[in-house]
Amino acid sequence: MQITKQNMVMRYALFHMFFLLSLAVAPPSNAATNNTKPGCQSRCGNVDIPYPFGIGPYCSMNVDFNIDCNISINPPKPYLSFVNSNDTYVHYLEVINISKSQIYVKNSELQLARSCYGMPTNNNTVNHSTRLDFFATPYTLSDANQLTVVGCEDLAVVRQFSNLTHIYGGIGCLSFCTDTLSIGTCPSWGCCQTNISKTDFLYVTLFDMQTIGRRDSRYLPCSFASVGMIGDLGNFIFNLSDLDDSTAFLKNNKEFMDRPLVLDWRIDPFSNCNKTSCGKNSVCNNWDFLYGGYQCRCMEGYEGNPYLGCQDINECINNPCEAHGLCINTLGSYNCSCNDGYYGDGKINCIGCIQLPVTHSNMAIGNFQLISAYLFFLVFPLFKYFRCLINLIFM
Ligand SMILES: *[C@@H]1O[C@H](CO)[C@@H](O)[C@H](O)[C@H]1NC(C)=O
Ligand SMILES: *[C@@H]1O[C@H](CO)[C@@H](O)[C@H](O)[C@H]1NC(C)=O
Ligand SMILES: *[C@@H]1O[C@H](CO)[C@@H](O)[C@H](O)[C@H]1NC(C)=O
Ligand SMILES: *[C@@H]1O[C@H](CO)[C@@H](O)[C@H](O)[C@H]1NC(C)=O
Ligand SMILES: *[C@@H]1O[C@H](CO)[C@@H](O)[C@H](O)[C@H]1NC(C)=O
Ligand SMILES: *[C@@H]1O[C@H](CO)[C@@H](O)[C@H](O)[C@H]1NC(C)=O
Ligand SMILES: *[C@@H]1O[C@H](CO)[C@@H](O)[C@H](O)[C@H]1NC(C)=O
Ligand SMILES: *[C@@H]1O[C@H](CO)[C@@H](O)[C@H](O)[C@H]1NC(C)=O
Ligand SMILES: *[C@@H]1O[C@H](CO)[C@@H](O)[C@H](O)[C@H]1NC(C)=O
Ligand SMILES: *[C@@H]1O[C@H](CO)[C@@H](O)[C@H](O)[C@H]1NC(C)=O
Ligand SMILES: *[C@@H]1O[C@H](CO)[C@@H](O)[C@H](O)[C@H]1NC(C)=O
Repeated sequence: MQITKQNMVMRYALFHMFFLLSLAVAPPSNAATNNTKPGCQSRCGNVDIPYPFGIGPYCSMNVDFNIDCNISINPPKPYLSFVNSNDTYVHYLEVINISKSQIYVKNSELQLARSCYGMPTNNNTVNHSTRLDFFATPYTLSDANQLTVVGCEDLAVVRQFSNLTHIYGGIGCLSFCTDTLSIGTCPSWGCCQTNISKTDFLYVTLFDMQTIGRRDSRYLPCSFASVGMIGDLGNFIFNLSDLDDSTAFLKNNKEFMDRPLVLDWRIDPFSNCNKTSCGKNSVCNNWDFLYGGYQCRCMEGYEGNPYLGCQDINECINNPCEAHGLCINTLGSYNCSCNDGYYGDGKINCIGCIQLPVTHSNMAIGNFQLISAYLFFLVFPLFKYFRCLINLIFM
């Protein structure tokens, strides 16, 4: 095409129009995309509360995602409270943080089983078992947790259910001590750890094996079992003499009980994806065959909260086009148009805009120099960026 002055002025004007348009259409680059329903608080203390979670019944999707923000604590602390379908098991968990598919909570009581065999005068300290029941809630215990058992010749038996009638698995963890052991580390003598698989029900029972197994010359009656985030007891060291009574171990080893518990979350265990499940510009994924429910995520090129609706990302803000290309934001994507005389996809990480080594009036076939120039400038980069080429052709 002959580049006339008129043409150039026109293109210049178009360039500016696009530029202004992309500015007008796009939200400011650092605009926080709304993560809560309008008028709702987005944080409690230092913790972000993204929808479907919300502070108060209006702000959350339903009661299972209701957050209590206790503002009489400084900084305020968020609590998640829900009951399982049996309406008998009330969870009240302090929230550490919430991500797209997981929630980290604190709860020492829930995570702990303790048992001090042979101490009948110490009745109040025996809790042989602990139950983590998320049946029919949007939560499951994540496989990012592990069970830790501290004790000598003690066995923790773990049962996992998927529903009330069927047991889908069970594991055991047996911890032994040696006669001379005085300091324990995990996992090693005196402490056993095992990964657990994703589950909505975990039942941990502690058994004393001294009665049927090897007998230590000492008698260390107490054992403890807790579930928590994998790896969080990395440098955990305990004194075996703390296993002599039920309170010393917990008092001297706060980190054992303070480990966060990792829960996976999704929407409604009793429904699957349908057309109205997610907000606009988002896609729905059924969650898990065994546990039911679904999750939403933004379509590619969109951002925001998929349960409220996602907005187009204006890719042009971090100009992804090279110097001879002009960025045009499109819904879900962007395009780089090359200036006159340049060809390609204009993208910095792809082909870019390649200047063809010809004058517009001089396109004679058979010109050896021209063909080799084409090969060098066009064909070679095209081979190199095959994926970009495919994109370019099929876009
Ligand atoms: C974000 O929230 C503000 C204030 O509540 C509202 O004016 C705006 O329309 C919201 N934006 C989107 C994309 O929902
Ligand atoms: C908030 O925390 C304070 C201090 O721990 C406690 O006394 C109070 O009962 C809590 N309020 C609610 C509503 O849980
Ligand atoms: C509900 O909880 C009670 C008391 O814990 C228990 O006896 C009962 O079996 C539970 N029912 C179901 C269906 O889980
Ligand atoms: C949430 O908290 C846990 C435990 O402190 C931490 O390991 C994890 O990285 C945090 N996740 C996010 C998204 O902040
Ligand atoms: C321990 O429990 C037994 C039976 O329940 C009871 O007779 C005994 O008084 C209790 N001992 C203490 C110290 O509470
Ligand atoms: C034993 O477990 C029950 C139920 O989880 C709990 O209410 C109680 O406080 C526990 N007792 C001790 C001594 O930890
Ligand atoms: C539990 O799961 C089994 C096998 O998937 C199924 O046959 C049974 O009906 C389920 N029970 C309940 C109460 O959902
Ligand atoms: C336990 O899980 C962690 C993290 O997923 C993994 O690195 C480790 O190998 C697992 N341990 C066993 C014994 O499977
Ligand atoms: C373990 O605890 C006992 C009793 O408190 C104490 O005498 C001993 O020094 C401790 N051992 C270590 C290595 O801390
Ligand atoms: C679609 O799913 C939503 C949320 O789970 C539910 O409220 C609604 O009833 C479902 N609609 C249909 C037509 O199944
Ligand atoms: C990008 O531009 C090309 C050529 O102008 C056009 O065919 C294509 O549809 C555009 N792509 C998008 C996502 O707008």
